[in-house]
Amino acid sequence: MRIIETIDALQECLKQCRDQGKTIALVPTMGGLHQGHLQLIDEAKSHADVVVASIFVNPTQFAPHEDLDKYPHSPEADKKGLMDRGADVLFLPSVEEIYPENQTSDYEVGEIAELLCGKSRPIHFKGVAQVVSRFFDIVEPDVAVFGEKDYQQLQIIKQLVGRQKRKINIASIGIVRENDGLAMSTRNKYLSASERMLAPNFNQALRQAKLNYESDMVLDQVISRAKEYLGKPFELDYFEMLDANTLTKITTSSADVIIVSAVKLGATRLIDNIVFRRSNV
Ligand code: PAJ
Repeated sequence: MRIIETIDALQECLKQCRDQGKTIALVPTMGGLHQGHLQLIDEAKSHADVVVASIFVNPTQFAPHEDLDKYPHSPEADKKGLMDRGADVLFLPSVEEIYPENQTSDYEVGEIAELLCGKSRPIHFKGVAQVVSRFFDIVEPDVAVFGEKDYQQLQIIKQLVGRQKRKINIASIGIVRENDGLAMSTRNKYLSASERMLAPNFNQALRQAKLNYESDMVLDQVISRAKEYLGKPFELDYFEMLDANTLTKITTSSADVIIVSAVKLGATRLIDNIVFRRSNV
């Protein structure tokens, strides 16, 4: 695996690959890698000849009060994990490389970015759109791979690619979980031992909501039950059931439903979702 820190060196390397007729996949990450990230590499390998993974903790997607400064950092383990998994290139740019002084930071992300996580993190998705656009410009991948754990992010990136008329195939993988159901996340490292014991209740609440919905409980009741279940110490940001394709209200023609939620457990923000097909549509 080649480790590259500058855009010039990366583009030189990718030009050689393209000249040999090879296709390129991009897996953007912020490091602190876990098995969920590494499964993105597997998926990327199934789509393209050369897999570029990036590690860049993007400052523009963190609000001033958020965890940019203490975001978990495990460079040696990340390098080893990516190499063992068969990534071909690790791109490790500096902030100056990604954001030279004249870069605009105003990215149009549309209404979808104002829902769900966008309400409590108002600048977050603009920052994500900015950095992902920048990576797309630099790498010009044939395919880019994202996780469905960040479902809203994935939809925003798909819309972005459509709006910017890019010829990039967006692939995704389902949520990779711990054995007890907790969605893997770099931020799980922040949980104390007692919080970690409670954390699986979050996914349990989503699964129970799905069962309740499928046994014809009315939607409002499904949601209020889940909110009750997620009482203290969970601090609820949102718990919603929506049309999975539009992230708007479920209608009679909604074929796929998403149950999607964000909570705080102590100081740690957790997100999770379940997407399923409605049986009666
Ligand atoms: P990060 O949180 O590092 O996640 C990188 C990628 O891994 C994202 O596509 C995310 O959805 C995926 N991922 C994380 N946990 C996962 C899990 N348990 N199962 C499946 N996929 C999972 O998301 C970001 O970084 C950033 O916003 C980024 C897109 C890199 C832009 O800065």
